[in-house]
Amino acid sequence: MKIACFSVKPYDREFLLGANSAFGHELTFLEPHLSRETVALAAGFPAVCVFVNDRLDRPVLEGLASGGCKLVALRCAGFNNVDLPSAAALGITVVRVPAYSPHAVAEHTVALILALNRRLHRAYNRVREGNFALDGLLGFDLHGKVAGIVGTGKIGAVVARILHGFGCRLLATDAVQNPDCLSLGVEYVPLHGLLRQSDIVTLHCPLTPQTRYLIDSHSILEMKAGAMLINTGRGALVETTAVIEGLKRGKIGYLGLDVYEEEGDLFFEDLSSQVIQDDVFTRLLTFPNVLITGHQAFFTRNALEAIATTTLANVGAFEGGRPSGNEVRG
Ligand code: NAI
Repeated sequence: MKIACFSVKPYDREFLLGANSAFGHELTFLEPHLSRETVALAAGFPAVCVFVNDRLDRPVLEGLASGGCKLVALRCAGFNNVDLPSAAALGITVVRVPAYSPHAVAEHTVALILALNRRLHRAYNRVREGNFALDGLLGFDLHGKVAGIVGTGKIGAVVARILHGFGCRLLATDAVQNPDCLSLGVEYVPLHGLLRQSDIVTLHCPLTPQTRYLIDSHSILEMKAGAMLINTGRGALVETTAVIEGLKRGKIGYLGLDVYEEEGDLFFEDLSSQVIQDDVFTRLLTFPNVLITGHQAFFTRNALEAIATTTLANVGAFEGGRPSGNEVRG
């Protein structure tokens, strides 16, 4: 099938081409994001392949439909960037990669926890400058600490297993209790109970209208003083301005982010020679107890291979009139 692939980086090209030898699709690689300005590039393609920061709102979907597009293949798990009811109304099928490597994201989550706790981001710079002083690098034992996991699906369950290995007490919030987590001894509690008791709060639920700003000024008030907040889910799970206030007051003791609510204008690009215009983001960068990575939690070789294979298989199934099982509906 002819597929217009948007937001393509060299690594996407490498893994999509590698996987495509088994499928034989006709791939066209495009660097720009899919947007109202770039949708014309998709004209004549029955399928587009997109990523997390391509915005598929109603006008973009209308543009796709008028260009003959019948399939949107997301090469990611989250689908909060697609207006699903509009896609359905326009006769566009949406498929995604629901699971590629929960380990990739879970392990990055734990990397953020460990690095923040032991201040590795600061220690790295100090040692390079010949400063071997330990002041300001004091950490805590993870063993015995309470970790609160919001969302115990595929990724949250792996985080639970890893933190269980560290000897953490585990709390979780999820409407669906995961048997793997229950067998580890995870205690399911309502969100406010989790926030009140947890030394570390880590977010692994999808972004939906219900979970938008799950962490806002009210929920921050409920958190333990000096707690660690980690978000590798989606940026808008957290109200960034409220978190900045929480950091200033010392209510939030550590913040680890792999996602940011306005990341679409920043992440995945080299902006090192430019002045960043987002004042909220730049304020976050000034805190010594904040560690931000640019949506890289998924970024392992294993995950990219699995994403490419599943994405191209999803397109193949659609082309053959078969359900892939990875369709998303509004
Ligand atoms: P999943 O669908 O396996 O699990 C999500 C869990 O969240 C489910 O158990 C669901 O019941 C629960 N949930 C839904 N609403 C909730 C709420 N209000 N409170 C608590 N729990 C709630 O999804 P998976 O694979 O574990 O991924 C989770 C999220 O991680 C994705 O939706 C995506 O946004 C994000 N993600 C981030 C990546 C990154 O590179 N930073 C890569 C992959 C996923």
